[in-house]
Amino acid sequence: MTVPIAIIGTGIAGLSAAQALHAAGHHVHLFDKSRGSGGRMASKRSDVGSLDLGAQYFTARDRRFVAAVNQWQAQGCVAEWKPLLYNFHGGRLSPSPDEQSRWVGRPGMSAITRAMLGQLPASFACRITEVFRGERHWSLLDADGETHGPFSHVVIATPAPQATPLLAATPKLASVAAGVKMDPTWAVALAFDTPLQTPMQGCFVQDSPLDWLARNPSKPGRDDTPDSWILHATSTWSKQHLDLSKEQVIDHLHGAFAELIDCAMPAPSFTLAHRWLYARPAAAHEWGALSDPDLGIYACGDWCLSGRVEGAWLSGQEAARRLIEHLQ
Ligand code: FAD
Ligand code: NAI
Repeated sequence: MTVPIAIIGTGIAGLSAAQALHAAGHHVHLFDKSRGSGGRMASKRSDVGSLDLGAQYFTARDRRFVAAVNQWQAQGCVAEWKPLLYNFHGGRLSPSPDEQSRWVGRPGMSAITRAMLGQLPASFACRITEVFRGERHWSLLDADGETHGPFSHVVIATPAPQATPLLAATPKLASVAAGVKMDPTWAVALAFDTPLQTPMQGCFVQDSPLDWLARNPSKPGRDDTPDSWILHATSTWSKQHLDLSKEQVIDHLHGAFAELIDCAMPAPSFTLAHRWLYARPAAAHEWGALSDPDLGIYACGDWCLSGRVEGAWLSGQEAARRLIEHLQ
């Protein structure tokens, strides 16, 4: 019997590792506490269509990631987004065009991880609480008390605070993960029956509780009615208002949006708030991935590199590379 490799987390880091290991001929089995893949790149189905509440778009700078993005584009699950970009600074809103290529999943962000997952075996709605080693192999315990295994290796691809307890078998790696601070982000979606009278499709925001605004239907492949917007608060505001009710967060951020926009702001016909507790690492690192090859345990995720989609994908590749190298 071939003993598979366990991968905890079906965000882009876990799936990047899974694809690389699968391509090298290894069997993998993925686990995720959520009902679907994507993690912070998931899209939320709602009454106003699919909403990208987490990652908004991504850039590709490393040639390996550029090649992956080209492949996804050829498959049809990624498209370029060319928003009419604005900048809000010093109380002024102004157009802020640039030449940067920006990519989104199509028809929603989650299309990418869905395509990467393909037919790979995975268990969803399965929160892993413990990773432990027997004489030769690894086993995983889930929140319902069920044990999964045996596994030859374990790749932990969750945000650092959630990786820390799962790395207990290797205290050195656990303490590195425990030292990574991750900041929260409050995200709000608003929809309007009558489209806002502004050409703006994306906006970088300074000097406000808001950090970023995006017109969701301006992304390729989305339904264009009603006019839905995603608002992201800054890390500072999110930290200060972590325990506010969703209704209060919606009120505050809707108010901040009304203050900066250059048109009338009607009452929204739809509202939704989501709190990302571990949205982004407070600092970038250059670890690539964490590994204890003799024990056979690895950790990856955006927190091992830059807190961006590209960093997460590269980190998954790096964990897989180290694992494959150790087996040779
Ligand atoms: P995740 O996507 O967090 O995946 C981890 C997975 O592990 C999750 O699916 C989770 O359910 C699962 N998990 C956790 N614990 C367990 C457990 N115990 N058992 C089982 N499963 C578990 N990046 C950009 O490049 N551009 C952007 O515009 C951008 N905007 C962002 C906006 C927001 C609001 C947020 C939150 C993030 C944004 N990012 C952006 C960052 C980007 O989304 C992340 O860097 C990237 O998606 C991280 O991928 P990951 O695989 O490392 O982690
Ligand atoms: P990018 O190159 O488009 O943006 C990087 C930064 O440059 C922006 O945050 C912005 O400050 C500035 N910038 C870029 N183009 C601009 C323009 N035309 N006008 C004014 N300012 C501009 O994308 P990159 O480097 O891939 O970064 C990803 C984005 O994801 C960043 O905006 C980052 O803040 C965001 N992010 C948000 C998270 C959250 O939790 N809210 C988590 C991780 C990333």
